[in-house]
Amino acid sequence: MRVILDCDPGHDDAIAIILAASKISPLEIVGITTVSGNVSVEKNTLNALKICDVVGLTDVPVAQGMPRPMYREVKSAEAIHGETGLDGPDLPENPHTKQIDQHAVDFIIEQLTHTTEPITLVPTGPLTNIGMALVKEPAIKKNIKEIVLMGGGTYGNWTPAAEFNIYVDPEAAKTVFNSGVPIKMFGLNVTHTVLATDETVNDLKQIDNPVAAFVSELLAFFIQSYKDHFDFPGGAVHDACTVAHLIDPSIFTFEHVHVDVETKGDLTYGMTIIDRLGVGENEPNVHFASGLDHEKFWSLFRNAIASYS
Ligand code: RIB
Ligand code: CA
Repeated sequence: MRVILDCDPGHDDAIAIILAASKISPLEIVGITTVSGNVSVEKNTLNALKICDVVGLTDVPVAQGMPRPMYREVKSAEAIHGETGLDGPDLPENPHTKQIDQHAVDFIIEQLTHTTEPITLVPTGPLTNIGMALVKEPAIKKNIKEIVLMGGGTYGNWTPAAEFNIYVDPEAAKTVFNSGVPIKMFGLNVTHTVLATDETVNDLKQIDNPVAAFVSELLAFFIQSYKDHFDFPGGAVHDACTVAHLIDPSIFTFEHVHVDVETKGDLTYGMTIIDRLGVGENEPNVHFASGLDHEKFWSLFRNAIASYS
């Protein structure tokens, strides 16, 4: 399965990349594209390059994308991910892996235009790159197998109604959800139950490889951040849910529902409107993740990281 990881690394984006690049993964990473989100697109790109160094992804194109949302001002989450966007691990400032010159939106369009088989898009940050690609070249839809995204949910974490990835660029999100492309959505209702804890970190310390050490340092920071900001017992590895599903489709369960995005409400701007009872007039357009086998998820997580040994 060919995938493009569109991300804003970000601790949990990093976990998603690490799972995708692991030896237990059947995924062919066509490219990694970055977008303004957790921190600036420049910092997110630098973080993506550093992650590629850690996992040995030296032959995967990394393309920098949109520096701001389609219409709104930039919003970022240094409070959660730190000033670098990947606080915790001590990494060399200048990664060996270099980004390509092509803009991420043009990279996505080019890959989808010339691919010999449909590509799965895996956005784990704001949907600005995906939305812009769909607007610039709608013909790419026929070669998108599905969009497997982390975003939205039945409640918010940036406002009471809106989750960060959607809240940053609701107009891009609305473009994606109304595109007609098959979508799988991993929202806060499931991702907030996938918590890395101090026990997770202690378990990783039993694995003797550099990636396990890197993830331990990532999670130590991320767990403390979630304890401080949300009084959670651990850090929600939101974005890892997307790739874990692609590696093992039996982990998550889904409801086929209609989802749209609010772009006007004073209190609800950025909210994903999820019609779980089918009371609206619109046909279902999203497979909405509503449950998971936690034991299977964490077994895959551990096996993926151990596979770097
Ligand atoms: O709300 C969680 C999402 O926002 C995750 O993708 C995290 O990385 C941030 O981008
Ligand atoms: Ca993210």
